[in-house]
Amino acid sequence: MRASIAVLAGDGIGPEVTAEAVGVLKIVAARFGHEFSLQGAPFGGIAIDESNDPLPPRTLELCLGADAVLLGAIGGPKWSSPHSTVRPEQGLLRLRKELGVYANLRPITVHPALRHASTLKSEVIEGVDLLFVRELTGGIYFGTKTRTAEAASDLCVYSVAEIERIMRVAARLARERRGKLVSIDKANVLETSRLWREVCARLMRTEFPEVQLEHMLVDAAAMHLLRRPRDFDVAVTENMFGDILTDEASMLAGSLGLLPSASLGEGRRGLYEPIHGSAPDIAGQGIANPYGAILSAALLLRLSLGLSAEAAAVETAVSAAIMAGVHTPDIAAPGKPPVTTQAAGAAVGAALR
Ligand code: IPM
Ligand code: MG
Repeated sequence: MRASIAVLAGDGIGPEVTAEAVGVLKIVAARFGHEFSLQGAPFGGIAIDESNDPLPPRTLELCLGADAVLLGAIGGPKWSSPHSTVRPEQGLLRLRKELGVYANLRPITVHPALRHASTLKSEVIEGVDLLFVRELTGGIYFGTKTRTAEAASDLCVYSVAEIERIMRVAARLARERRGKLVSIDKANVLETSRLWREVCARLMRTEFPEVQLEHMLVDAAAMHLLRRPRDFDVAVTENMFGDILTDEASMLAGSLGLLPSASLGEGRRGLYEPIHGSAPDIAGQGIANPYGAILSAALLLRLSLGLSAEAAAVETAVSAAIMAGVHTPDIAAPGKPPVTTQAAGAAVGAALR
């Protein structure tokens, strides 16, 4: 097949991990006989440096015209002074909104060869296989903000339609998996959460009676994720709770660097990014973990291009590399020499060929 993929490498370790993901996509194209047009564009801090706009019109146009967007990471100390009015993160939020990708899927599994990498006990994390569905284009991230010398405010708004559409995505995924959905909110305090819970309960009763639904308060969810992570199948939650809980849940897998994400809207076009940030502290050293970026490319193949066999081949190759002990410093076992970002990408490429 022919497909156009916009590649936004971004800042910090973004370009390093994205290069490995792009390398893997090229191997997939060669091995399976596809033609991928991979086109890069400035985005994030680097785009601010060039044109004082984290999402330049040309970059947005490229993304809107592509079949899928592959993103590295954005941000860094250079652009994050509390006084700067133009920040890389604004570009990312605008891109998500413009693409209409309201459903952010963050799967988290524990690889048997990486039990040592987690700070949690093996018997707690063994067999973890959960999927977070984070609402991505609403809530407090997008509400009106005010600021005076004495006070500041961020408004959190959710509409019934926004809640219904994210619930449908989560419920469908739960139905394909183990049939369990946990909806996470703060309904004992927040009005948006009370609406969230009401809409969720009604929709699940009428449209997905076969899916087992549980409501959970976000503070309790933060605890249960560490206490009994295996019990979770699909968890659906609003934008900010999802941001926080998925960083927490990444520690089940052992490293933020391992985890991919897919952001989807109504069509097939999606935005794919590892859930880690730009990690400016380790940028340029060739030690970043590229597996999250490569697994994001696998999700891109499956969800935007419909190439399931190709996606599975990439996932199997990553798993084989992990099994063979090809570990960057964040996941290397004590006493075992870690490999570079490039070596990890190359190992995946070799397993794929
Ligand atoms: C994420 C990131 C972003 C978010 C930042 C960079 C704006 O933390 O994708 O989880 O908060 O959504
Ligand atoms: Mg985050």
